[in-house]
Amino acid sequence: MKKQIKKIAVMTSGGDSPGMNAAIRAVIRTAVFYKLDPYGIYRGYQGLIEGDIERFTARDVSNIINRGGTILKTARSKEFRTVEGRKKAYEQLKKHDIDALVVIGGDGSFTGAQIFSKEFDFPVIGIPATIDNDIFGTDFSIGFDTASNTATEAIDKIRDTASSHDRLFFIEVMGRNAGFLALYSGIAGGAEEILIPEENIGIDRLVESLRRSKRAGKTSSIVVVAEGDKTGKNVFELAEYVEENLKEYESRVVIVGHIQRGGCPTTFDRVLASRLGVRAVEVLLDGESDVMVGFRNNTVEVTPLEEAIKLKREINKELLAIVDILTT
Ligand code: F6P
Repeated sequence: MKKQIKKIAVMTSGGDSPGMNAAIRAVIRTAVFYKLDPYGIYRGYQGLIEGDIERFTARDVSNIINRGGTILKTARSKEFRTVEGRKKAYEQLKKHDIDALVVIGGDGSFTGAQIFSKEFDFPVIGIPATIDNDIFGTDFSIGFDTASNTATEAIDKIRDTASSHDRLFFIEVMGRNAGFLALYSGIAGGAEEILIPEENIGIDRLVESLRRSKRAGKTSSIVVVAEGDKTGKNVFELAEYVEENLKEYESRVVIVGHIQRGGCPTTFDRVLASRLGVRAVEVLLDGESDVMVGFRNNTVEVTPLEEAIKLKREINKELLAIVDILTT
């Protein structure tokens, strides 16, 4: 028979994302609502291993729904990748009598959660939060909307100076392995070209396309480049190559960087985090484990963690197609 759940713990893990606080708040308050004892674990799995765990009340999460970052702090723990590390983590949970764990994070954090849950038969639920939006089983992960708005704002500002000086700008946005952020902010910012890890358009085709836009009367251009694009050149080398082969343009490079990870979460991210946080506790109480709560087709849905980790969230081809049409 399954153990009745009385005490649950929540942590944030991996890269932070705006809206994580709203998710923590939702988990803690839902736990209180259902008469459970909630705990917060600081610094992700590393904090768990070290016993950095505290009892939380509903009031401990007051006034955080609007704040970026994570009050629980976050980390990427090497020790948790070892059996010994995970054993220490389990002992800490046992020491505090904790019956279940809610992990707010991305695919790396879910991989750890799944291994842990199988090893110790411990109930775990995942809540997707990453600005990369690359998790299978959810149309949006917490933080993506805020981060893409931040990137779009940066592109808008750069457009002003690009057009005043008739320049070509290469703007690097985050996304080591995923191009969602580049694609959304690139479309919203009216970029001429968007380079993403999922699709290699080829550097010479890029030069050709920029040359065509110039001939078509464009005086300035913006190329949005995902951190992990597949041209084989970093953004500075890319700009240099294009300048050498397209003498008509003077170019500049901007790296938007970690600004994308901070700031007040948008309304969308706060509502998403609230819905997923509530559902995470409810599915635990329904006896589920090893699943992720996600948002698909405007409803909250549950996906096995194994699928969320293994399956790849594909780029929507329609988005790529409209970039080509709209840059005419
Ligand atoms: O996974 C989120 C993310 O922001 C990626 O887009 C980026 O490549 C990476 O984290 C950066 O990680 P760090 O903050 O450790 O440099």
